Amino acid sequence: MMDWTDRRCRAFHRLMSRRARLYTEMVTADAVVFGPRERLIGFDAAEHPVALQLGGSDPRRLTEAASIGADFGYDEINLNCGCPSDRVQSGRFGACLMREPALVGECVAAIAAAVDVPVTVKCRIGVDAQEPGEALTAFAASVKAAGAAALVVHARKAWLEGLSPKDNRTVPPLDYPLVHALKRAHARWPIVINGGIADLDEARTHLEHVDGVMMGRAAYQNPEILLDVDSSLFGEAAPFDDPFEALEAFMPVIARGLARGDRLHDWTRHCLGLFAGRPGARNFRRILATEGVRADAGLDVLRRAVACVGRVVEPAAARPPRGARELLRQHEGA
Ligand SMILES: Cc1cc2nc3c(=O)[nH]c(=O)nc-3n(C[C@H](O)[C@H](O)[C@H](O)COP(=O)(O)O)c2cc1C
Repeated sequence: MMDWTDRRCRAFHRLMSRRARLYTEMVTADAVVFGPRERLIGFDAAEHPVALQLGGSDPRRLTEAASIGADFGYDEINLNCGCPSDRVQSGRFGACLMREPALVGECVAAIAAAVDVPVTVKCRIGVDAQEPGEALTAFAASVKAAGAAALVVHARKAWLEGLSPKDNRTVPPLDYPLVHALKRAHARWPIVINGGIADLDEARTHLEHVDGVMMGRAAYQNPEILLDVDSSLFGEAAPFDDPFEALEAFMPVIARGLARGDRLHDWTRHCLGLFAGRPGARNFRRILATEGVRADAGLDVLRRAVACVGRVVEPAAARPPRGARELLRQHEGA
């Protein structure tokens, strides 16, 4: 997720689940080929398994970018056909590619021929006036034939004219049954569902119909969800007993970042949603959002913020962390 799932965020999320697959922000193929590569797609070995998401529609340029990504060690190359922003449309990639399944197929085939890691696609169920059943069926058939290893479907249309990217994540209605039906039509091809999935109970329900669940906002805004992924969905021990332990384990990682010149906020902005529902969570966020943004803020600020948080979970923990959402809204430009 652009501006959210940078490598610092992924390092944090990886601490919370050994098994969840993490995705980079979308990076355009041009940026990977011509831009500051290490800054754009560099990642830490601890992040595995991690997928590089590319944006583009030129098979040759995508192939170059994907090869670079594979050389960096990414476990998967994912092609974005779901992002609805104007900038993306003018570059002819993202959700507008739902109208060009043959071109997307060409891109997938070219990338798949060039890299050894799985190539996957993330799409919508259609754009604008497209009939979702037809659009998704044709799109899926094309990318599957081209060699896509899996399809991730954000189960709502994108309206390319008239809706902001943010509204395009809430306004068009979700159509989960359509994605479940797509899976029934492709029994041996992995289909991953995405969009509006709020917790692991919902995820488990979807897993009765599809092969995987992708969680975006819920996982970012309430990262404690990730602490239960390994035990709930993979039958393995959770990496930590609680978010306090996870954050403690994150501190040396942050310290290394600070020693390299990062600011504390570069790291802790991804932690604001932690501790949702616990007494003191609001103070935790307030300290990080005020003192934590200062240029000279160090781990002592984070420790002080954590010290405000009580260990007892209030029943409201199940609700999304409202205060965190307000603080996070400033990052919602993507
Ligand atoms: C801030 C933000 C940035 C996003 N950036 C990307 C992106 O780079 N690539 C992508 O495929 N989806 C992106 N998305 C969309 C999410 O991946 C996801 O499809 C969408 O939010 C619906 O899933 P959710 O309800 O679980 O969040 C972004 C969403 C948000 C909120």
